Amino acid sequence: MTDRPGAPAPPGAPPLAEIGACVFDAYGTLFDVHAPLRRLADTLGERAPALSETWRVRQLQYTWLRSLMGRYADFWQVTGDALDHAMAAHGIADLGVRARLMEMYLRLDAYPDAPACLAAVRARRVKTAILSNGAPTMLAAAVDHAGLRGSLDQVLSVDPLQVYKPDPRTYRLACDRLGLPAARIAFVSANGWDIAGAASFGLKAVWLNRTGTAPETLPGRPVAEIGGLDRLAALVAPASPRSGGPVGTPSRDSFAP
Ligand code: LAC
Repeated sequence: MTDRPGAPAPPGAPPLAEIGACVFDAYGTLFDVHAPLRRLADTLGERAPALSETWRVRQLQYTWLRSLMGRYADFWQVTGDALDHAMAAHGIADLGVRARLMEMYLRLDAYPDAPACLAAVRARRVKTAILSNGAPTMLAAAVDHAGLRGSLDQVLSVDPLQVYKPDPRTYRLACDRLGLPAARIAFVSANGWDIAGAASFGLKAVWLNRTGTAPETLPGRPVAEIGGLDRLAALVAPASPRSGGPVGTPSRDSFAP
């Protein structure tokens, strides 16, 4: 198979057959951002899911708004600011809860399918990396806590750029640091807006749609949609020659036309 950047894959090849690296979003993709609130369900009761949702939504909104305002602050501060808003919005004033939630953000659970996915991609001689809004210290803590350090070739933070995804400069960072053209990098994210940003930049975006969310109506389309990380490696290469690869895999796994 040719190694030329941008060369078309042969007919019937998996959609990521030409890539040299799989780059993953971190929060919500490899790491479960709702795990901390599940742990505090006893303390917060039925307010826990709504608090978690508001926290996450505001966290993302604050990244976009700060980028537009030209007022970058790192993801640790943004995460704390978003939690302060969420707690106020849901009438929770307990500073002990705040401290515990922030501390838990440094040791989030990896999704159960994440470690095997990284190993399966690497077994196909494809590099693995994270590209995240997360501050470097946050990412290092989460990666180490989840035991994923040895499964990743690089952990990239947007922090040196002082701007957040989906600014195109953030996706270019992956090309620069991996030494690969955009067309040879797969970008995997559970966030539809992140997929749109990566695809618009030119990465081969794979939407991890765990919950059957409707597609975003933004520029930039994914090359594939998967229902779990266990489906990713088959898009890179079939498990065995002539096995049919990903064609015919269950339900929501699909390829863009
Ligand atoms: C990240 C956020 C967007 O990890 O989930 O970059």
